[in-house]
Amino acid sequence: AQNYRITLLPGDGIGPEIMAVAVDVLKVVGKQLDLSFEFTEALLGGAAIDATSSPLPDETLLTCRNSDAVLLAAIGGYKWDNLPRHQRPETGLLGLRAGLGLFANLRPAKILPQLVDASSLKREVVEGVDMMVVRELTGGIYFGQPKGVFETETGEKRGVNTMAYTEAEIDRIGRVAFETAQKRGGKLCSVDKANVLEVSQLWRDRITLLSKEYPGVELSHLYVDAAAMELVRRPKQFDTIVTGNLFGDILSDAAAMLTGSIGMLPSASLGASGPGLFEPVHGSAPDIAGQDKANPLAQVLSAAMMLRYGLNQPTAADKIEQAVLQVLDKGDRTGDIMSEGMNLLGCRAMGDSLIQALEES
Ligand code: NAD
Ligand code: IPM
Ligand code: MN
Repeated sequence: AQNYRITLLPGDGIGPEIMAVAVDVLKVVGKQLDLSFEFTEALLGGAAIDATSSPLPDETLLTCRNSDAVLLAAIGGYKWDNLPRHQRPETGLLGLRAGLGLFANLRPAKILPQLVDASSLKREVVEGVDMMVVRELTGGIYFGQPKGVFETETGEKRGVNTMAYTEAEIDRIGRVAFETAQKRGGKLCSVDKANVLEVSQLWRDRITLLSKEYPGVELSHLYVDAAAMELVRRPKQFDTIVTGNLFGDILSDAAAMLTGSIGMLPSASLGASGPGLFEPVHGSAPDIAGQDKANPLAQVLSAAMMLRYGLNQPTAADKIEQAVLQVLDKGDRTGDIMSEGMNLLGCRAMGDSLIQALEES
């Protein structure tokens, strides 16, 4: 059997609950397709802070580097919100992305026919939505220097972050985006704030230049404020979106809600080489943690993305995605995607239903 070393980072909040479901699903699919997974659990985020006082222990980064792919659930929670920044769970996640060189974050937002009525928008607006947000992940205002809280001459504090992109950083995410668009609907919309920000003007210029190498892709540009509006006004116009780190963070949450719930959306983070990181778009949902209420489907679909983009096992990925559709067809729903007449299930029961669907397939 083909053997894969997978690092699991269950993290905090609902993380361990949804991770358990994804691991069970992977085991079943592995058995069916003769793939063997060697899982190693490592600490990230609040769980790591509690055990080691660091949100990203060296050992975790090492374990991740030595694996074929990394599956992450989510990190963060109230308990760690007031720690100094370098000790926060989120800093651990950013360090992991940077440490693995994962500059390209793919966030698909596709409405499933079964969930059209779970969207807060009208059926005719969201039916058929199928887009991919390509978010730059290791640059921009998340990482630019200088950053920090500094004291001014008057003794007042001043918080600083810097939005910066080099040409090389723009080009490499641009290439991923054009290639993604080429394989999808052939349309790429680049989102920036070039009417105000120099960094965005450079972004727009480079993306425009790059488009000459991809004559098959139709390129358009939107300012980020207009893009936010268009996402909820006429989301079907979008095929592939490429944007910087912060804009991509915000727009992908908005895109997620078109599909009914953020609890449905997976993501893949990829670098030039080395293992990819696969994680839901949502966070650790501390408000429902430990109550068996979380929707595990974004986590399960992230495992499918891991098989497709990280391990080149598209058949296994298809099988998992089919199982998700099957349980939704049966009417199984967690609270976040619940609608009238459907069966309300907890996280664990949703997992059991998925396993059953897989075993019947
Ligand atoms: P969140 O995504 O955790 O939660 C937002 C809302 O969506 C909550 O009402 C939550 O209950 C709901 N939700 C999220 N995932 C769900 C699921 N699978 N099933 C059902 N409902 C779900 O965002 P937040 O509340 O802004 O952040 C909470 C913590 O998570 C913070 O510490 C934040 O920094 C962290 N966070 C981590 C990641 C990550 O690990 N990649 C991403 C986003 C936020
Ligand atoms: C996400 C999250 C993270 C981000 C946080 C938790 C660091 O919101 O993955 O979307 O801002 O990238
Ligand atoms: Mn986010």
